[in-house]
Amino acid sequence: MNETKPLGIEETPLPGNGNADGQPPSRRVLVTGANGQLGRALMALLPQAGFVPTGVDLPEVDISDTAAMSTWDWSRYDIIINAAAWTNVDGAETSEGRRLSWRANTVGPANLARAATRYGLTLVHISTEYTFDGATAVHREDETPSPLGVYGQSKAAGDAAVGVCPHHYLVRTSWVVGDGKNFVKTMLSLAERGITPSVVADQTGRLTFASDLAAGIIHLLASGAEYGTYNLSGEGPIVSWADVAKRVYELAGHSSDEVTPVTTEEYYAGQEGIAPRPLSSALDLAKIEGTGFTPADSMKRLDVYVRSLS
Ligand SMILES: NC(=O)c1ccc[n+]([C@@H]2O[C@H](COP(=O)([O-])OP(=O)(O)OC[C@H]3O[C@@H](n4cnc5c(N)ncnc54)[C@H](OP(=O)(O)O)[C@@H]3O)[C@@H](O)[C@H]2O)c1
Repeated sequence: MNETKPLGIEETPLPGNGNADGQPPSRRVLVTGANGQLGRALMALLPQAGFVPTGVDLPEVDISDTAAMSTWDWSRYDIIINAAAWTNVDGAETSEGRRLSWRANTVGPANLARAATRYGLTLVHISTEYTFDGATAVHREDETPSPLGVYGQSKAAGDAAVGVCPHHYLVRTSWVVGDGKNFVKTMLSLAERGITPSVVADQTGRLTFASDLAAGIIHLLASGAEYGTYNLSGEGPIVSWADVAKRVYELAGHSSDEVTPVTTEEYYAGQEGIAPRPLSSALDLAKIEGTGFTPADSMKRLDVYVRSLS
């Protein structure tokens, strides 16, 4: 880790962010995992909201490197937003992936929670509905963790570590669509190549566009909302992956009938090493809405997103 070379994606402070006598600005943010879907959205939106972000990611900065995290110069920041994670759900079921998942998703957040507690920083950490078994139709913030696979287990353990930090926002989200490879782009590519896919119809939830997730996190920070756990996904109808795929096909000028809905069991039949997945991913959004944030309708956002790619 080299603290002096944070990937070159440090943003220029906005005028007025620092005070006149040269003191550092009060809303200096370290974004870990800054090259990921959420990290990129945060790096784009934070400056517009008057924050001064510094983005770091692997290989230069590994949040699971406990020695490096304990000697990091935390005096340079007021807020940590941890967008870093091992998000390869099936990869986490391998012996190597299990270790990497626990390092990134548990040891890393624990390192950040320790630093945030010691230096009085606010820590924002991102959780997932994979910390639940999916038996509940709509997940509330106070649901007891019941993770099915290694990814969810390692995330649930990281959540517990973050929970001991006095100033924390634990933001639980689902089905993130952002910069890079994602389900929507995959479906669009299949449609364009004339492929007629089978898509899982018994896993239900709502998409969350990375820029909307970043906007919700910024809202929590800027509004001074009470610390704690918040669900944050897109709003609107609860749909299945097959519903999303069908809509993408329609938007691409194809028939939705080209997508065949199947069960999770049918989809993965005969495949080894597939992580168990929660059937219900939908999150109850009442708490974050109570802070004055209105999540975007996920299917309307899907339309806009697909049109922006065409
Ligand atoms: N994607 C989803 O559908 C989804 C759903 C619910 C919750 N979430 C949560 O939302 C958050 C953001 O997810 P995302 O989709 O933006 O993830 P992402 O695109 O996979 O980005 C994660 C970033 O973290 C980096 N990283 C991995 N291990 C690290 C470590 N030890 N130290 C520092 N950086 C590390 C990754 O680098 P490499 O690429 O080099 O590994 C990557 O740049 C995560 O907490 C995730 O668990 C995601």
